[in-house]
Amino acid sequence: MDFNTVFSEKIKYCEDILEKFIPSKEEYPSIIFQSMRYSVFAGGKRLRPVMLISACELFGGDIKNAEPFAAAIEMIHTYSLIHDDLPAMDNDDFRRGIATNHKVFGEDIAILTGDALLHHAMETMADACVNQNSINASKAMKAISHGAGVYGMLSGQVVDVKSEGKKIDGETLEFIHRNKTAAMISGALMAGACIAGADDESIKLMGEVGDKIGIAFQIQDDILDVTSTTEVLGKPVGSDEKNEKVTYVTMYGIEKSKETVIKLSNEAIDILKSFGEKADFLLQLTEYLIKREY
Ligand code: IPE
Ligand code: IPE
Ligand code: MG
Ligand code: MG
Ligand code: MG
Repeated sequence: MDFNTVFSEKIKYCEDILEKFIPSKEEYPSIIFQSMRYSVFAGGKRLRPVMLISACELFGGDIKNAEPFAAAIEMIHTYSLIHDDLPAMDNDDFRRGIATNHKVFGEDIAILTGDALLHHAMETMADACVNQNSINASKAMKAISHGAGVYGMLSGQVVDVKSEGKKIDGETLEFIHRNKTAAMISGALMAGACIAGADDESIKLMGEVGDKIGIAFQIQDDILDVTSTTEVLGKPVGSDEKNEKVTYVTMYGIEKSKETVIKLSNEAIDILKSFGEKADFLLQLTEYLIKREY
């Protein structure tokens, strides 16, 4: 099967998993369930759950055990997007091709929806740890929580918003990208490896792969914010300029940024190659992301 077919099948599998783990909108109080579903099922590339499942496969794990963690990481990612779009943060009106959560449900419910998705993700993972009665599951939960929290995405977002309109150095910009974006991608790859019972050295290497793919992914996001269109991206272009963010593009220019995306992706590919042909899908996904247009 070619890469695109396998990728589409994996995305569909992740959509089914999400459907299984996110409550129906009939429950009370229905507004919170409606709002959670509105943002989660608006679309999205589903990269993090696909990576988690694929890392589990790479190390020969049972992907059934990975399902709750795949759902959880997409819930946490979606929460981060809802909060990222709030007026107090990037103040964007459009996400995943539709109006942002706060535009439809109001800021109060949007804040609570982000919280709800985070807590529901934690409960989903904790349930899986109990049901699987496995140290591997606990290690996966730790990898995801670590990537999302103060040693990961959250601190990246803190430095991102606190740097608006300021001059920052290259090291600070790298801290922002590594944490706000790469930490969750590392968390996904490490969690998949943990569930499969991979050894500590391999789990660490998957973290490094995620760091490189993740920073490249955010640089590409910065590029697309300048070069793409809202129709293609499903979110507003020019958001970074509007918020006076320092990005790879403003610091190094488009050409140098594109070169860095390729360089980091190739470094990730070199590590993936050391795992043999079982890493083919993740390797092809990394190549695909270099050229992504949305
Ligand atoms: C958007 O992530 C936020 C960044 C880390 C750049 P994605 O580009 O993966 O967003 P979705 O999930 O496809 O909507
Ligand atoms: C946000 O980075 C990363 C998150 C943790 C949500 P951006 O602010 O650049 O993401 P987009 O462009 O709004 O998706
Ligand atoms: Mg942001
Ligand atoms: Mg944003
Ligand atoms: Mg962006």
